[in-house]
Amino acid sequence: MHYKQTDSPRITKAVIPAAGKGTRLLPATKAQPKEMLPVVDKPVIQYVVEEAVASGIRDILIIIAPGKETLQRHFAPESRFKQFLQEKSNSRSRLIAHLPAGKARIHFAYQNYPRGLGDAIRCAEEFVANEPFAVLLGDTIITTHRLPLTRQLMDIYAEYHSPVAALEKVLPALAHRYGIFRGEKITGNLFQAVSLEEKPRQHIRSPMAVAGRYILTPDIFHYLKNLRKGVNHEIQLTDALRFQAASRRLLGLLFEGTRYDVGNRLDFLKTNILFGMEHPETGKELRKWLSNLTRRKT
Ligand code: G1P
Repeated sequence: MHYKQTDSPRITKAVIPAAGKGTRLLPATKAQPKEMLPVVDKPVIQYVVEEAVASGIRDILIIIAPGKETLQRHFAPESRFKQFLQEKSNSRSRLIAHLPAGKARIHFAYQNYPRGLGDAIRCAEEFVANEPFAVLLGDTIITTHRLPLTRQLMDIYAEYHSPVAALEKVLPALAHRYGIFRGEKITGNLFQAVSLEEKPRQHIRSPMAVAGRYILTPDIFHYLKNLRKGVNHEIQLTDALRFQAASRRLLGLLFEGTRYDVGNRLDFLKTNILFGMEHPETGKELRKWLSNLTRRKT
């Protein structure tokens, strides 16, 4: 297949990989996808879909694995439950309105065997149909003070016509958990990649890590197809990006905001507490309870 380099600045499609096994959250994820675990009152995946929709994305492909069909059910129209609530004049019926309310279409594809993030992206090739597209990791919520992060990356793509990844600074001792991006500053918080490495073994000084949001161009499929298995014997998206960066400009945006990786126990708990403190129904009481709790313990 020939991957033509599209100059279209308009990105309308997003891919949300959500096919992982969620082993770090077992046993909670034995029968329940980690993306369906709640943060206060919404499953994690709903925050991710909402970010895509708020960024102006019109078509979303969620990559799932066999057994993760609850994700499909969550986004399907729910008429019986809704009718039940309406008959009881329960105002909560609005909370199960069909998502994302006519603003975008949600599609699903299967990754039949967990071969890594790069392989999951490969499952989106037909959907992407030679256009640039956004990628939002399905277990990662990102909050920002201004535009949604995906929108910020889309705006950078519109200006530079280059693929771009969100970046964050991580502690050198934790670099082995991430895709590490080495780059040269272009302007402000924008960097051009010099090299990328997935989960490096050696310590790296003030590393910048790839942080769960990307704008990719369709030539990435060429690099993904020709990849050998990388770290953890998986097809790594970071490896494909390294090869791509050798032949075209790849950008990184050191974003201002917070990333919540809900796929591990401690961050899952922290995220629930922080979001609970901000929630209009729970915030006041939870803050009071937490401050009493800490006073009691000190
Ligand atoms: C994935 C990516 C890695 C990235 C990380 C955080 O790793 O492979 O490059 O830095 O997400 O977004 P995982 O957390 O799935 O091991």
